[in-house]
Amino acid sequence: MKGLVLSGGSGTRLRPLTHTGAKQLVPVANKPILFYVLDNLVEAGVREIGMIISPETGKEIQATVGDGSRWNASITYILQEYPGGLAHAVQTARDYLADSPFVMYLGDNLIGSGIREFSERFRGETPDAQILLKAVEDPSSFGIAEVDERGHVLRLVEKPKEPRSNLALVGIYFFSPKIHEAIGQITPSWRGELEITDAIQKLIDWGCRVQSEIIDAWWLDTGKKDDLLHANLVVLDEWIRRDVRGEVRGHSVVTGRVQIPESSVIVDSTLRGPVVVGENVLIERSFIGPYSSIGNGCVIRDSSVEHVVILESCRVEAIQRLEDSIIGKNSVVRRRDGQTEGLCLMVGDDCVVEL
Ligand code: TTP
Repeated sequence: MKGLVLSGGSGTRLRPLTHTGAKQLVPVANKPILFYVLDNLVEAGVREIGMIISPETGKEIQATVGDGSRWNASITYILQEYPGGLAHAVQTARDYLADSPFVMYLGDNLIGSGIREFSERFRGETPDAQILLKAVEDPSSFGIAEVDERGHVLRLVEKPKEPRSNLALVGIYFFSPKIHEAIGQITPSWRGELEITDAIQKLIDWGCRVQSEIIDAWWLDTGKKDDLLHANLVVLDEWIRRDVRGEVRGHSVVTGRVQIPESSVIVDSTLRGPVVVGENVLIERSFIGPYSSIGNGCVIRDSSVEHVVILESCRVEAIQRLEDSIIGKNSVVRRRDGQTEGLCLMVGDDCVVEL
């Protein structure tokens, strides 16, 4: 079985971060979301992976992910000239996929479990399609599936006004090559995209076997700022172990599940986990509170932060309280004089915020 990872798209909802970078590379607990996706595919035995990229962010993705050797996998990049929809992405990868069954994985989706169990069922039972579903509280904001008691999918509805089910489509789909035929028969939706839900609905209409699995683990679509902060919180909560290797000097206190690599230095500061600190970070006379991810090469001085995602090479100086914030890479947030009250920021890459 091949893998198809969708890392194109425009990422309007995470602007300003995604003006300059690919949203699939935004880090959660200091690791790009896309890396979790690749970990999951490889763990399920999928090592031949096609990666859809866009003209805008494709190069950055290629430079970060490489040829797949890091995962012992082979990655082939496939350029999608414009974001024509998920089914358009599959169409673009038609030659690469040939007649192989495949798992399609959206590059910005994060789930709290692996996919091996689902992939084994798909390989064993060989349905025409298998989708993953998750019960949600607000079904009218998602693509929703109606299923029978055996999990066979009866109908898919995009953002229903009066939902008849609360089962949302998670961005992981298993397909037989029959999906290509279905995609050949659909037309663009009202938003001008070739929708994968329309293609799956075609399979259902043709009487093909479309089955579903409900996932119990959490699922986070990291499309927006609050989703991203929440994803960071959940991953730090569940997956981070204490591992302090860097130098901790002076009057410093490091409590709980905190990761500090050897190249980073903590001076006269308090870190309260869960917290991850990247490589070559300097934290001086500061407080780093729970649920914070500090990217590689950051300098934090005379500041207090909590529940923040700070991307690489940022400087935060003399900021009294920075909370619930995302700071894009190479940015500077500093106070010149006077006091700052609690700050809550969403700062794009390469910015300077002086207060
Ligand atoms: P979406 O979140 O549906 O779309 P988007 O990336 O355009 O985002 P936004 O709504 O913020 O503007 O995309 C889901 C994933 O699929 C994401 O990783 C991007 C990818 N994708 C493609 O690769 N090609 C496409 O044509 C589309 C629509 C999405």
